[in-house]
Amino acid sequence: MTQRTLVLLKPDAVRRGLTGEIISRIERKAGWQITALELRSLDHDTLEQHYGEHKGKPFYEPLMEFMASGPVVALIVEGERVIEGVRKLAGPTDPIAAEPGSIRGDFGVIVRENLIHASDSEESAEREVKIFFPGRA
Ligand code: PPS
Repeated sequence: MTQRTLVLLKPDAVRRGLTGEIISRIERKAGWQITALELRSLDHDTLEQHYGEHKGKPFYEPLMEFMASGPVVALIVEGERVIEGVRKLAGPTDPIAAEPGSIRGDFGVIVRENLIHASDSEESAEREVKIFFPGRA
């Protein structure tokens, strides 16, 4: 089942110099390919489009502020079962609950600074690719 997913390496990953390590974990999976990659700062409109479904939740404002605090690396990754697969590599939202060996489990401590976003379904992936790489929709 070939899919594509939208991945963001969050500002903490960029600040801490972990983007190479995280990208390398993605690249090492057999058959997955990075088909778009960009370092960019996110403005409020882009963030609202991306995280709008969470508006009103207690973590919404801290999340928006954090995601605007520095550049992110946005990627499209394509391959077999890549949506479920990248989320498995990332580990659960709370890094302390994440297993060692996962990205969040190896490098994260607090929930806000959990290093990576990955689309959670085919529908989300298509919506998010349009936001970050409109030319690839
Ligand atoms: S939900 O309500 O279950 O859909 O939320 P969840 O999938 O766990 O999280 C949605 C995104 O919000 C981020 N998040 C937070 N950011 C900052 N602070 C806190 N406390 C917090 N809790 C959740 C979480 O990392 C998700 O962002 P992405 O970019 O999708 O990983």
